[in-house]
Amino acid sequence: MRTITLDVNGSRFELQVQETAALAEVLREDLGLTGTKIMCNDGECGACTVLIDGRPMLSCMILATDAEGTDILTIEGLADPVTGNLHPIQQAFVEKSGMQCGVCTPGMILSAKALLDENHDPTEQDVREALAGNLCRCGNYRRIAECVLAAAGMMNGGAT
Ligand code: FES
Ligand code: FES
Repeated sequence: MRTITLDVNGSRFELQVQETAALAEVLREDLGLTGTKIMCNDGECGACTVLIDGRPMLSCMILATDAEGTDILTIEGLADPVTGNLHPIQQAFVEKSGMQCGVCTPGMILSAKALLDENHDPTEQDVREALAGNLCRCGNYRRIAECVLAAAGMMNGGAT
């Protein structure tokens, strides 16, 4: 076991982890952040995507010990911490049926956030490319892309 410090969703946690523990496992089991999903546990599906220093990363493929010193954002950290209001991407997923079973949803939303943080006016192709590493076993890709485009519109001050 090793004692590490992780910065997650703006809070600092000190915890003891197995040296071989994946970040996804530690987020879910030690910190109770079960919004991070584990589907393939093999780097193939994107369900475990979190943002590390603003970039989408597969948390099932990263050792928790290697995440020390980074800024980790999970789906639980996306809503406004003061008002509790959902992030526009979350809002769009709710309003426009962006989820079916929901297993891919947190990873999709975080990958979309990374895109919209860099590109405020993406095309559908931009969205599809940014989310290419996130698989949806329900096949809801068309609606997911619509949600991300609607969120971009909301973030630019337009209606959905
Ligand atoms: S659970 Fe990590 S990529 Fe599938
Ligand atoms: S909504 Fe079920 S996996 Fe995407």
